[in-house]
Amino acid sequence: MKPKTCKELVIQWCDANLVSAESELLKQGVRITNDMVADLMQKSLPDTGFSWETYKKWITIYRRGGIVRTKEQPELSEIIGQMADNRRETSSVFVVKNDPLDLDPLGIAPPDPEEIDIKKMMFDVPDTYSNYQAPIKLDGYGNKFGIVSDIHFPIHDRSAVLAAHSYLKKENIDCLILLGDIMDTGNLTRHALRKKLRYTWREELEVGRAYIRSLRVLFPDIPIVYFEGNHEQWFTQFIVRQAVQLDGDYIFQERLELEAHKIEWIAEERLGKIGELYIHHGHRLGVGGGMNVAQKLLDKHGVNLVVGHFHRAMEASKRSLDDKVHAVWVNPCLADLHPDYNPHGNGNQGFGVVELSSDGRFMMRQYKVMNGKVLGEKELYG
Ligand SMILES: [Fe+2]
Repeated sequence: MKPKTCKELVIQWCDANLVSAESELLKQGVRITNDMVADLMQKSLPDTGFSWETYKKWITIYRRGGIVRTKEQPELSEIIGQMADNRRETSSVFVVKNDPLDLDPLGIAPPDPEEIDIKKMMFDVPDTYSNYQAPIKLDGYGNKFGIVSDIHFPIHDRSAVLAAHSYLKKENIDCLILLGDIMDTGNLTRHALRKKLRYTWREELEVGRAYIRSLRVLFPDIPIVYFEGNHEQWFTQFIVRQAVQLDGDYIFQERLELEAHKIEWIAEERLGKIGELYIHHGHRLGVGGGMNVAQKLLDKHGVNLVVGHFHRAMEASKRSLDDKVHAVWVNPCLADLHPDYNPHGNGNQGFGVVELSSDGRFMMRQYKVMNGKVLGEKELYG
């Protein structure tokens, strides 16, 4: 279509000539200016009636990428030509039936799906950026799993930690699961109440490393899996807040020397699974606090699940119409029950043991710890 305005003329001329002119001159080390382009245009199109200044104005806008190309209305003959092209292309993609009665002379009826030649169809979409990964299966790690969560080093309860771990040692577990918030990371939080701590980040980290070292002395050979909790995640959030450019250079699990102690790290976005039991720290499952978090998690997700995060032993189960029973357990903590940031909370202490059978079913035992002692069936509360 013939350009009518200077803008259209500039689009047409620049589309056709500018890229090659630019690259030609760049080879000679010359960068073509808008003035030079205007000179060139005026020389090659002398009789358009547009001034050099008008050329330059539209060239400047064009090179800035600021030209909005309005859709030109095609002539009727172009539309008819395009329709014929479309029909030719369609017939090369679809095998259209030869209809002796020619009931569809324009060829616009959809072809019989059975006659579509799938191999010739060119429909495709680009790869996705989505990164969801299936739960990590831990079945191969053994049959008896110990679960501890929410120790919150260095504001842990030392006697509770000792009691839980020695019990798990006696239980002869095959695998130990650290279900998140093992570290408190209080120095790196942005929560206002935690700004003045009695210890530095370096001291927090040293306490955590000492635990990791002792853990490997207590359990020298069994697999140990560390699920990231929201408090571990504070480390990454801190780095990103302070210096996003360093994200990836400072990694929490490296600071804690997990790899050196052969402890497997599972990032917060991943679920774990032992047989039919799902595992997560609990902070990314779409349920806040409240009276019975286990019931809320069961209603929301409807699977067998164990989480930490809420610092209070809770359990809920339900039978569905197809006679399947699902249950959710909230693992209690091993942290100080009266931390500065929440001195009168109602958390309790304990840990869990999961025993897996060969068909994927499992048994969950949840133990309470009180005053540094593991409560058994005959112990008295109070
Ligand atoms: Fe926690």
